[in-house]
Formats: sequence, structure tokens, C-alpha cells
Amino acid sequence: MAGKFRVALSGDFKKADGSPVFPDFDIEPLRKAPGVEMAYLDSRNPLQAAQLDDFDALILLAHRFAPESVPKSGRLAVVARFGVGYDTVDVPACTAAGIALAITPDGVRRPVAVSILTFILALTGKLMAKDRLARLGPPGFAARGEHMGVGLVGRTLGSVGVGNIGAEMFRLARPFDMKFIAHDPYADAKTAAELGIELVGLDDVFASADIVTINCPLSDATRHLVNARRLGLMKKTAYLINTARGPIVDQKALTEVLRERRIAGAGLDVFEVEPTDPNDPLLKLDNVIVAPHALCWTDQCFAGNGAADVKAVLDIQHGRVPRGVVNREVLDSPRFKARLEDYRSRFGA
Ligand SMILES: NC(=O)c1ccc[n+]([C@@H]2O[C@H](COP(=O)([O-])OP(=O)(O)OC[C@H]3O[C@@H](n4cnc5c(N)ncnc54)[C@H](O)[C@@H]3O)[C@@H](O)[C@H]2O)c1
Repeated sequence: MAGKFRVALSGDFKKADGSPVFPDFDIEPLRKAPGVEMAYLDSRNPLQAAQLDDFDALILLAHRFAPESVPKSGRLAVVARFGVGYDTVDVPACTAAGIALAITPDGVRRPVAVSILTFILALTGKLMAKDRLARLGPPGFAARGEHMGVGLVGRTLGSVGVGNIGAEMFRLARPFDMKFIAHDPYADAKTAAELGIELVGLDDVFASADIVTINCPLSDATRHLVNARRLGLMKKTAYLINTARGPIVDQKALTEVLRERRIAGAGLDVFEVEPTDPNDPLLKLDNVIVAPHALCWTDQCFAGNGAADVKAVLDIQHGRVPRGVVNREVLDSPRFKARLEDYRSRFGA
């Protein structure tokens, strides 16, 4: 296939007025890359096969890539998701069509780990309560002694999952002089040892940690992993933080333990149903801090996701395997290998 390496960006990268949704996503390196031509797709959700017939690569924001999105031309070689979640992408359909699905772990690692630290510091420092007190004036100042914070030295930071984000959270938390414990059935023992993390049983994380953080993917095995029983194992003084995926936590059970003050509090960036229902009783509680699945949204997060996607796409253009490929089996398929070879011969390694 001669001609340009054509890159599509899903239509939801642009607002209705044509301006970019994420101005920090720098697409200049793509525009300027020799041999590359790029275009925004019309906003169709899910994407339709015919929209993608003439493209080699797709950078995908939130639109769904479903079986009906797979172009018949066989030209599309990579779907580069803007972020690390890929529940909007039909992975088997990609694999069957010889399309690599790449995600951007390098873009979200630091921003999400910082979000977790933000929740830890806000919860243990009683930031929200003290903000309210200061606004009350004299009565607020008079009541400040009733809202003592919790120091972190020697306390136990626990995690369910020590992957990309979980490990970074521990890395960032090092100067706080806490004890680190985690459960991860597939943990890299070397990374855990380097970070000073003691690997323990799942229930031990809940029973022993002063702060339990959730850093595993959502799967059949982890759906409602944080249930009434495990919440019941937690210390009365402990906090739960979930920035991973809402359905990992049984939200009704969490609401109950928070209401009954059987744990000290929670920080939630994700929910079982998003967007949240403003009438959800969870949102009426004063011992929970919430964010709209966006605590990690910073200029640097979007710049990082964009840079990672641009790099993945340019890697494919030059016949290289990008980082963050989810469906790794595609890399061994003769069809995909032949396509990489073709790109390499046309655009140089
Ligand atoms: N809030 C946000 O905006 C946001 C942004 C990015 C990622 N996330 C979420 O953060 C979570 C972690 O992402 P990541 O990039 O670190 O993923 P990752 O795949 O690098 O790490 C996940 C870790 O969880 C472990 N794991 C798998 N099953 C487990 C189980 N049953 N019990 C314990 N551990 C288990 C894996 O072995 C792996 O080490 C994911 O749920 C992801 O969707 C949220």
C-alpha cells in the first residue's frame, strides 16, 4: 500500500465549535512527521467501519470501537487509546482483524498516583472539615480541636494491586516513612522488594492497613472485591481510597460502613454508576471525599497521554512495536508482522 501513513483521531477530541477538548494534547509532532497525514473523524459512537477504511492508525478518546468499527479494507494497524482503560474497545475484534490495541500507561502513572496521595493527605489531614471550619469564622476556629488529623509516620499504607499505578503510589509515598503492604497475585517480587513492600494476603491488606488503596483492574475476579465482609475487617480508624474502577467496591456496603462510622472515611474518584446520582446517600456523608473520575486530570496527564499515543502511532509507522500493547498475541500474527514490515520498508525503521 503506497502513499501516506494516515492517522485518524476520534471525533470526540473536538468540541462542537471545533476547538480541541484537550488543548494540552500536542498533535504538532504528528502533523510534522514525514509521511503522515492526519484527520479528525466525524463524531460517531460507536465508530463505523467505513469511517476508518482509509486509515492506518486511530487515536481513540471515549468513543466505542466495536465489532462494527473494524474497517473492511484491512488497512488499520493500530488503535491507540488515550488513557489506560479499554472497556470501550472490543479487544477480540481488534485481535481477529490483526489490529494492535495500545494504551498509555506512561501518561497516567504519575497523575493517578498523585491523585491517591491527594486523597491520603486530604483525608488524614481533615482538609475538607477544616476548610468548612475556617469559613465559619470564630465558631469554626473554636471547634478545630475536635478535628484532629492523623499523622502518617509509622502508619501502614496498603494496596490491592502493585502494577503501573500502585507501584508509583508507593514510590511517591516513600518520604512519609510509612509501612507498605500489598496484595497482588501477579506481583513482581523484585519491584515489591525494591520499594520495601511486604506482599501479604488479600484480607491482611484490609485488616492491617491504616489506608487501603485499590489499584487493580476491574475483572470478574475483582468485581465487588471490596465487599461488606472485607470492609468489616478494616480498622475503625482506617481509610479506603478507590481511584481504580467503581464496581471493584460494593458501594452500598461502603455507604453503610461509612454511615455507621465503622471506618474513618473514604476517597473515591470512581463509582459503580457514573455519572453519580446526586441523590445517592453516599454523597450526603461528610466522611467521604469524591471526585468525578477526574482527579488525575491535569495538563500533564493529557499531554502525557497524547505524547504516548503519538509515539505509539509513529512507532507503528516505522515498523516498531509500541509500548503498552494490550492484545500482545497480535504481535505474533503473520498478518500484523507483514504489515509492520511493509511500514518499515516504506517509512524507514
Ligand atoms: N481514576 C482514573 O482516572 C484512572 C486512570 C487510569 C487508570 N485507572 C485504573 O487504575 C487501576 C490500575 O491501573 P494500572 O495502570 O496500575 O494497571 P496495571 O495493569 O499496571 O496494574 C494492575 C495490577 O493489579 C494486579 N491485579 C490483577 N488482579 C488482581 C487481583 N485480583 N487482586 C490484586 N491485584 C490484582 C495486577 O497483577 C497488576 O499488577 C485500573 O483499575 C485502572 O483502570 C484509573
